[in-house]
Amino acid sequence: MITILGIESSCDDTAAAVIQDGVLLSNIISSQKVHENYGGVVPELASRAHQQNIIPVVDQAIKQAGIKKEDLTAIAFTRGPGLMGSLLVGTSFAKGFSTALNIPMVDVNHLHAHVLAHFIKENKEDNHAPQFPFLCLLVSGGNSQIILVKSYKEMEIIGQTIDDAAGEAFDKCAKVMGLGYPGGPVVDRLAKEGNAEKFKLNKPHIQGYDYSFSGLKTSFLYLLRDELKKNPDFIEKNKADLCASLQKTIVDVLMDKLRKAAKDLGIKDVAVAGGVSANSGLRNAFQEHAKQYGWKIYIPPFGYTTDNAAMIAITGYFKYLDGDFCPMDAAPYSRVVM
Ligand code: KG4
Repeated sequence: MITILGIESSCDDTAAAVIQDGVLLSNIISSQKVHENYGGVVPELASRAHQQNIIPVVDQAIKQAGIKKEDLTAIAFTRGPGLMGSLLVGTSFAKGFSTALNIPMVDVNHLHAHVLAHFIKENKEDNHAPQFPFLCLLVSGGNSQIILVKSYKEMEIIGQTIDDAAGEAFDKCAKVMGLGYPGGPVVDRLAKEGNAEKFKLNKPHIQGYDYSFSGLKTSFLYLLRDELKKNPDFIEKNKADLCASLQKTIVDVLMDKLRKAAKDLGIKDVAVAGGVSANSGLRNAFQEHAKQYGWKIYIPPFGYTTDNAAMIAITGYFKYLDGDFCPMDAAPYSRVVM
């Protein structure tokens, strides 16, 4: 039996999970509320909160899995990309715990883990994973990539944002409408009542599979600025239509490039990962593409799309099977590498 403890601390969620022979036994997450008042994650506060949360979170994951710490085969942890101070907490904890238990350590790339979240099994019979090769649209607050997934360990970023991530685009535009942080889910909710054709927003013209959201953000800002001069209640009166138009534009930008990549590569297995995959507009677009282009689509349960440790544990499990362990002198990395 192979029992892996996964630890995630790359941003503002402290999480631990246990996976046994590929099947999830526990999945604990402590989200940090401390950032809400600041409109974004404050790195130093995140590191401190990880430091406070990590022991209780790991303890709960082990207890809820119904195992003892001595039953663990290896410890998988997020090595990067992410916030350095946050990553250091998980990395140092993994080193200490694996040394104390005298078991190997497996380092996990957070982006690979988001993709491999599709392989988490909730029971032995679970058999919903995508077939290789497949395309994965990874969209979160910090990431926005189109990834060609050739195997558990061979992944290639074939397209990505050249500026803001998709979640950032939602959050920044939501912020200027005064919708709070993170604004993505609020935009989604309000968009359901709005007319997506009401406002025409800027779409980027970029070669290949890359895309951009900074022009959209600026055109959204200019629209609000110009209309507010004429009518100070403009945002209040048009909130739903603004959200619907914004959401449609972001989803269109993502889907245009994903569709192009799928067509060029002749791939019909297409997955989505990351926090923005909760977005109903994006989910509907996936469903429509499945119907229109014969895509086989994979949308994981919400809990596995946002940052979580189950995805770290499953990635660690595959790396463990490969004998791909991490040396004790490994340092975290903050930037994207694939
Ligand atoms: O993966 P995630 O939990 O962590 C980060 O990478 O930060 O993604 C969070 C992002 C935030 O930008 C949030 O606004 C966005 O995902 N998000 C959404 C929705 N739910 C979460 N964006 C649009 N619609 C949603 N329903």
